[in-house]
Amino acid sequence: MKIELTLNNRRELFDVAPDEMLLDTLRQHGLKSVRRGCDTTTCGVCTVLVDGLAVPSCSYLSVRAEGKHVTTVEGILEEAEKLSEHFGDEGADQCGFCNPGIALSVHALKHHVNNPGEAAIKDALTGHLCRCTGYVSQLKAIKAYLEADEDE
Ligand code: FES
Ligand code: FES
Repeated sequence: MKIELTLNNRRELFDVAPDEMLLDTLRQHGLKSVRRGCDTTTCGVCTVLVDGLAVPSCSYLSVRAEGKHVTTVEGILEEAEKLSEHFGDEGADQCGFCNPGIALSVHALKHHVNNPGEAAIKDALTGHLCRCTGYVSQLKAIKAYLEADEDE
């Protein structure tokens, strides 16, 4: 089936199987920042934005993305780099496998919640499993990033 969608602000055509998941479509397209982890909607590493909302692409049928805006971390690179600096400062940047998905959820949080506090950040991080950190350093880094962003 042919579908057309906007991927990182570019119109793209894809030929997908009816049961193909967006994770597979994007990875076959070379977007390996969209990670495969559990493949069962549990770990969050496959997170992408669809029309600005964070979704697990491992359980999102590609055909559902027809006509929508899909964003991977490549579409928010400048923002992801700034967040990554804060991760580095707080020691939250370890293997980095979970980082693209988290960066996209932080992007969605920033655009949908005014002055997000700790509870909103924890909410945004729900469903993002990280094997390396204890989440505290990530929480501190995201807070610092959001505060610095407000000052800009
Ligand atoms: S690979 Fe999609 S949630 Fe884990
Ligand atoms: S930093 Fe390794 S999985 Fe999160």
